[in-house]
Amino acid sequence: MNTLQNISTLPVVSLLDAGSIATPSYSKSERAQLRTRIIQLLKEKDAVLVAHYYVDAEIQELAEETGGTVADSLEMARFGTSHPASTLVVSGVRFMGETAKILNPEKTIVMPTLEAECSLDISAPVDKFSQFCDQNPNRTVVVYANTSAAVKARADWVVTSGNAVAIIEHLWQKGQKVLWGPDKHLGRYIQQKTGADMLIWDGACVVHEAFKSDTLKNLRKHYPNAAVLVHPESPMDVIAQADVVGSTTRLIQAVSQLSNSQFIVATDNGIFHKMRQVAGDKQLIEAPTAGEGATCESCAHCPWMAMNSLNNLTSTLESMNNEITIDEPTRLKAIQPLLKMLAFNENKAQ
Ligand code: 13P
Ligand code: SF4
Repeated sequence: MNTLQNISTLPVVSLLDAGSIATPSYSKSERAQLRTRIIQLLKEKDAVLVAHYYVDAEIQELAEETGGTVADSLEMARFGTSHPASTLVVSGVRFMGETAKILNPEKTIVMPTLEAECSLDISAPVDKFSQFCDQNPNRTVVVYANTSAAVKARADWVVTSGNAVAIIEHLWQKGQKVLWGPDKHLGRYIQQKTGADMLIWDGACVVHEAFKSDTLKNLRKHYPNAAVLVHPESPMDVIAQADVVGSTTRLIQAVSQLSNSQFIVATDNGIFHKMRQVAGDKQLIEAPTAGEGATCESCAHCPWMAMNSLNNLTSTLESMNNEITIDEPTRLKAIQPLLKMLAFNENKAQ
């Protein structure tokens, strides 16, 4: 069974919800000053920078130069728990900061902006999602990491794109039927891979949903030797054309491991920075985000990730504003499915 829950009352999420994003452009000397200031502040505040692959290349570089990390959402969660710094500066979107706080209540978690949301998180308000769970009490509730702390608190398991298939396969082998949310495309992909009985929430990522199957087919004709790399938040007809489907980390590995010299990449183009670092000699081509003759809407870049800048990173470190807080009863519930996920990964790695 693969039933899509249609909830017409859900907020309509569009790129406009992210406001108008103007990526700041700095002069060479402004950039150098901001970098120096951030490095100094990270030391002064006993803070470490934890960044996602989709944020600005300069923030990614700073994270690595200062002993922080640039990672997918699974590794961002793990890194924070093992690093000794008393403050984690999470550069990404809000659910990533919340996950860090759930797992590290004793640490201060700040973000360059608290307005960086995620269309998947927005698509699953806790009251409506809980109602959906209450209506299906015989199902194991599995939620994607791209959800609020309150939704995680309602879940039996949290998964990321790096372990979703393995965890649901494990649950299905134990005979458990799954209630999945919020990403319908990832849900359908997992369902197809595992054959699990899944009831699926109707949410989507505004960035990945924009990749277009027909124009991708045409692009592949121009680059017949290119490998196609697709993040599983993309629509099924795009996933169907992939040579590799996986988390951001998996797609970066593919660029360095496969012998192809050209890659068509269907995920946020912020990832190109790391891909160029690991395989600078390879040609990277953006998968198309608009149909034939149409203009590009998202242009394959998450508007919320783009809200992270050197400027707001500096002011957050100066003021220590933009702190993530989660009420303790919610945190204590939300940590359980997250710890299960981390333990599952640990056991698999052994
Ligand atoms: P990853 O966990 O694969 O990095 O994905 C997070 C995300 O938000 C993708 O849009
Ligand atoms: Fe959310 Fe999509 Fe942005 Fe990832 S790319 S943070 S799923 S809106």
